[in-house]
Amino acid sequence: MRKQLTSLALWIAASCIFLTGQNTEAASPEEFNQKMAVGVNLGNCLEAPNEGDWGLKIEPEYLKLIADAGFKHVRVPIRWSAHALKEAPYTVEVKFFERVDEVVKEALNNKLLVVLNMHHYGEFEVAPDAQQTRFKAIWHQIAEHFSKASKDVAFEIYNEPCKEITDERWNKLYPEVLQDIRKSNPDRVVVVGTVKYDNVHKLESLQVPDSDRHIIVTVHYYEPFHFTHQGAEWAGAESAKWLGITWKGTDVEKSSVDADFDIAAKWGKDHNRPVYLGEFGAYSKADIDSRARWTRYVREAAVQSGLSAAYWEFGSGFGVYDPQGKKWREPLLHALVGK
Ligand code: BGC
Repeated sequence: MRKQLTSLALWIAASCIFLTGQNTEAASPEEFNQKMAVGVNLGNCLEAPNEGDWGLKIEPEYLKLIADAGFKHVRVPIRWSAHALKEAPYTVEVKFFERVDEVVKEALNNKLLVVLNMHHYGEFEVAPDAQQTRFKAIWHQIAEHFSKASKDVAFEIYNEPCKEITDERWNKLYPEVLQDIRKSNPDRVVVVGTVKYDNVHKLESLQVPDSDRHIIVTVHYYEPFHFTHQGAEWAGAESAKWLGITWKGTDVEKSSVDADFDIAAKWGKDHNRPVYLGEFGAYSKADIDSRARWTRYVREAAVQSGLSAAYWEFGSGFGVYDPQGKKWREPLLHALVGK
């Protein structure tokens, strides 16, 4: 009996260590953003319909590799909607929560900050009104599940609001979700993006509740799109015509990037909110020299503008890491974490 009680106590202690992680103190979003520095998206894994469907699974050693390389956080794209009941009460599978827990634990063990998002809820993008009850119910469960998690874990309400998620709908819906998250996570950092795919030019129409001081605002950057998405199958047949486009880092090319980052930096300053570049990257069909030049330039532009940044993505089509060859793609790695 005593032995059983001891094991129970040990088990509870171990679970508490995981749940609270190393950090029970909420950082200000400004500090959190600074600590995030430069990170990487664990893309094409948990936001595939099922992990592995798109050729990659998150292996525990990846988190160590990422931390050892000098990245400070991981953004974890997650397709929660594929693992929740279609009808009320929209229960999220226990097994799926357990899998996300494993990834979070491994990241925290490696002292990486974590951004957990909601990604690729396609039905919500085309019918946000009809799906909003389910969207909220899924978020309610995520919030409760991670309510005791380390404060090094942040939530991101939705990746790239788009299609039918208009300014009007988004500005009404996301604060309602946020309010519910706050019941179980009063001071956790929550990341919120702009419509039209986290568009920097849509920052102006994003309304952020004044009273909530634990928010980071996010944008994504893939400009020039014809360069970063050349040959990208999901960007349509047209994208084959963009093959061969280079990015040389001419003054004209650079000043166009600078102008966009000036917008983000100015918006953050004017609104007193930290800004996070949650995705940027150039697909593998572009030449590696152009990709590395662009990646370095965008990373530097983000950092100089006071933004944190996460490269899209770790080990798939944009991959900074080659999981088959088990090695970093050096030019990209240096562009991201080099001097
Ligand atoms: C999407 C990915 C896509 C990437 C670049 C992400 O937000 O989820 O599917 O590869 O953007 O287009």
